[in-house]
Amino acid sequence: MAKKYLTRGLSRLVRGKPVIIITTLHQSGLVNAGTFGAYTNLSATEIGLAIGRPSHTYQNIKRTGELVINVVTRPLALAAEICAEEIPATESELDKAGLHPEPARMVKVPLIRECPVNIEARFLKEMEIGYHNLVVVRCLAGHIEEDLLSEDGGLDVVKAEAVVNIGYPRPLYAVLANPFLAR
Ligand SMILES: Cc1cc2nc3c(=O)[nH]c(=O)nc-3n(C[C@H](O)[C@H](O)[C@H](O)COP(=O)(O)O)c2cc1C
Repeated sequence: MAKKYLTRGLSRLVRGKPVIIITTLHQSGLVNAGTFGAYTNLSATEIGLAIGRPSHTYQNIKRTGELVINVVTRPLALAAEICAEEIPATESELDKAGLHPEPARMVKVPLIRECPVNIEARFLKEMEIGYHNLVVVRCLAGHIEEDLLSEDGGLDVVKAEAVVNIGYPRPLYAVLANPFLAR
């Protein structure tokens, strides 16, 4: 399905905190894909991500300053687990997971075609917190399948069946359901 291109309110595209696959570029030019769930929306355009320093994702973000955040939906949960495996930087998680890159507009890092939401982003600042670094990124542009865009310009997480992780250390996935107004 064709995606709508957005430049405003981008962090609303990951509300509900769905599991994400972050794509980055290795120095060889190979696309790296890692799975992440510990992050939060900080503002309309900034997202803070807890990323392990040994990960290829962290190293690639520090070297290139660029990343793409791709939202995981129910049919993509297994692909997300494959992207979480520790595989050598010389091999592509995307190939292993049956996912396909497609060009972004503002960064050199590709989007994942199968993910219905993609956010192009750039490194802003970081803070060391134990094993992870809190990596703050600025969202530059977003892509969303039009039927998943809610009236307020954010992701309709229920319709998208975006998955959240509710298990540790073994991931257990759930989708959000039954939204309601308190008044
Ligand atoms: C559902 C799920 C959520 C995860 N969330 C995080 C996270 O928030 N931060 C993190 O550092 N690793 C997280 N991981 C582990 C990374 O995906 C894993 O370390 C992966 O190998 C990183 O890939 P990379 O080395 O290609 O960057 C998560 C794994 C799964 C399956």
